[in-house]
Amino acid sequence: MKETFYLTTAIHYANAAPHMGHAYEDVLADVIARHKRADDFDVRFLTGMDEHGGKILRAAREKGLGPQAFVDVNTGKFKALFSTLRISNDDFIRTSDKTRHWPGATELWRVIARSGDLYKKKYSGLYCVGCEEFKSERDLNQGKCPVHGEAPETVEEENYFFRLSKYGPAVREKIDRGELTVIPASRKNEIISFLDGGLEDVSFSRPETSIPWGIPVPDDPTQMMYVWCDALSNYITALGYGGREDALFKKYWPADLHIIGKDILRFHAIVWPAMLMSAGLPLPKAILSHGFITSGGKKMSKTIGNVVDPKEIIEKYGAEAFRYFTARELSPFLDGDFTEEKFIDSYNANLANGLGNLVSRVLKMSEAYFGGAVRGADPGSVPVKEHIGVPAGEEELEGFSLPYIIQEKRLKRYREWMDKYDIQKGSDVIWRLVQELDGYISSYEPFKLIKTDKEKTENVLWNLLYGLYYVGFMVTPILPQTGEKIISLLGATLGENGEPISFTTKPLGAPLFARIEK
Ligand code: MSP
Repeated sequence: MKETFYLTTAIHYANAAPHMGHAYEDVLADVIARHKRADDFDVRFLTGMDEHGGKILRAAREKGLGPQAFVDVNTGKFKALFSTLRISNDDFIRTSDKTRHWPGATELWRVIARSGDLYKKKYSGLYCVGCEEFKSERDLNQGKCPVHGEAPETVEEENYFFRLSKYGPAVREKIDRGELTVIPASRKNEIISFLDGGLEDVSFSRPETSIPWGIPVPDDPTQMMYVWCDALSNYITALGYGGREDALFKKYWPADLHIIGKDILRFHAIVWPAMLMSAGLPLPKAILSHGFITSGGKKMSKTIGNVVDPKEIIEKYGAEAFRYFTARELSPFLDGDFTEEKFIDSYNANLANGLGNLVSRVLKMSEAYFGGAVRGADPGSVPVKEHIGVPAGEEELEGFSLPYIIQEKRLKRYREWMDKYDIQKGSDVIWRLVQELDGYISSYEPFKLIKTDKEKTENVLWNLLYGLYYVGFMVTPILPQTGEKIISLLGATLGENGEPISFTTKPLGAPLFARIEK
């Protein structure tokens, strides 16, 4: 039986069309999901939509729509974007789904209530409408919400509260012991110091009159669930928790990885684990907190006018180019910047030139010199010459065969990075191999060699095709269409060890990536 791997993204707010952050998060998760599948895990990949709350209700009213009709439109846009980006999610959960989501959210509420962790209290607090969250003084920056830049409203109401304060030490212990891993370490440290400052109980419901668009609190129609139980529960309701059929829940929970942005890390690393402990359920194993995408060095904002629409970029340059940029040019752990200029430069250098050009050159030589049939009687006779090392001299490569370097160095290193979810460093290994294969061509000059030594040229080409096969293999989680295309053009026959032994290549036709003229 295969080992299971359950990963999730945040559920995205359905208050508007998707933006770069949403596209980025789902691509990151998709690359990890595809890598795990290639590594023979039984993967379940969940993404979805957060469709309740005052912000959404207000936005719907502004458009003159009912909230359900409004979220249906926006959710449709997310689904279309994810499909163009070839996001390979196995499931898509929507919190307005009364059949799939509500029973589990309701059940979770009941179980937490039974454990004595909910109580009703009159409450007066500072509420940020943008965040849909009560703020404490220490969350504010000169009296204003640091995210929305506006002073929160004072709101008084009677709510259910969750005894979060009780769970601080237990959550800390789970993180300390590595049972709940927070990636990267800098974010883990932030969570630890936040926990050490002590936790306050959190409001767990809102009066029905303030947010009439949500899930009713069981047995108390005057109250609606607040985001915690409504939204965080999606990770288990999608697996059937609290429903009639919970085989998926039994099989896949606890999650192996929640992928979320840094702004909602505390919810995921503190509140969610506390809720699960209260309900007697196992905790997720890891949380990856990614950075934010800025545009031209600034937070994307309508006022600055620097908002980038992922749909436009994909329409202009293609989904594969978009995936390339997010995987290779942005760190999965830090903030990263998008500019169209950087996007084009990187595309031209690494996709049109680097990868695209290499594939084109090698396939052309295979076709022209051998009619596409490359056997390679003795590929070990043309080992790597030292100057293909990139950067030269960093690693002793001279005298080793290309298959040895690929198997023992490049593939291993690629796996190490990908297993740590560092898809940027994983991609660097692929493009390093692309450069090395270019270096290998320069050092043997097969286009000259063919005039004097056909047998040696065939061995050189065999090595190049072998290299391309693993470029294709490693690049597939990042660029699924390109990777599959490369592999299929090579027509490799595999030996018993699963490695290519001969090739029957097909001509490339149109270039993989046409150059973008600025
Ligand atoms: N609905 C909540 C999450 C509830 S999870 C139980 C939410 N939604 S969101 O639409 O605002 O954000 C969805 C995800 O996108 C979050 O993980 C968030 O961090 C991420 N991003 C939002 N803006 C982003 C960038 N500019 N850059 C990268 N990711 C960003 O939060």
